[in-house]
Amino acid sequence: MSIDTAPSELRVPAEIADLVFRSARTVNSFADGEVTDEQVRAVWDVVRWGPTAMNTLPLRLLLVRSPEARERLVTHMADGNKAKTQLAPLSIVVAADLDFHEHLPRLAPHMAGARDTLAGAEEVRERMSRDNAFLQAGYLVVGLRAAGLHVGPMTGFDAPGLDADLFAGTSWRSIIVMNVGTEPADREGLGVPASHPRQARLDFEDVARTV
Ligand SMILES: Cc1cc2nc3c(=O)[nH]c(=O)nc-3n(C[C@H](O)[C@H](O)[C@H](O)COP(=O)(O)O)c2cc1C
Repeated sequence: MSIDTAPSELRVPAEIADLVFRSARTVNSFADGEVTDEQVRAVWDVVRWGPTAMNTLPLRLLLVRSPEARERLVTHMADGNKAKTQLAPLSIVVAADLDFHEHLPRLAPHMAGARDTLAGAEEVRERMSRDNAFLQAGYLVVGLRAAGLHVGPMTGFDAPGLDADLFAGTSWRSIIVMNVGTEPADREGLGVPASHPRQARLDFEDVARTV
């Protein structure tokens, strides 16, 4: 359903603006339909083209599918996020790779020496990886929706605990857990509807100044 007609400035049809933003909702619970690795791969093949600083691409994805891995993930979720994560067709731990600089010779060959400079600057790498992984996480939400999927992003979890468990000995650091499904559905026993009532958004005048 189109909330609005698309303003003529948009270069995408109103249905696309609805699919990825205006009608799309944050989803707590899903019908049982499977979300395949191939679907996520197709989404990655598109969203990887979104810009990041120095073309660093620090986003990493852990697709949590097996019952064992799901149990481990759920133990790190905040209480209010446990049941939704338990019931989701797929959960993706979205992470930032502290060692993103290792790929810079391939990703940013025009910046000779960037890898070596960053190798000695862990605090800078921490900030850059987190900032740019969050940016890519936004692209990922839009990409998943463009593939007709529904997403419930969550930061309510014990990130150090999750990292020590699922990312032990690696340079990956969790930033968001995203539950993903094919269709929203109210689930018995979850205690929350598939989506909460839609809340207001700020207007252009609230967020923008022209100087
Ligand atoms: C980065 C991020 C973290 C979030 N963390 C949680 C969370 O831990 N638990 C939860 O129930 N919802 C969480 N949300 C959902 C937001 O509350 C929701 O996306 C927002 O209210 C907009 O809802 P709507 O898309 O249905 O309009 C999170 C969303 C984002 C983008």
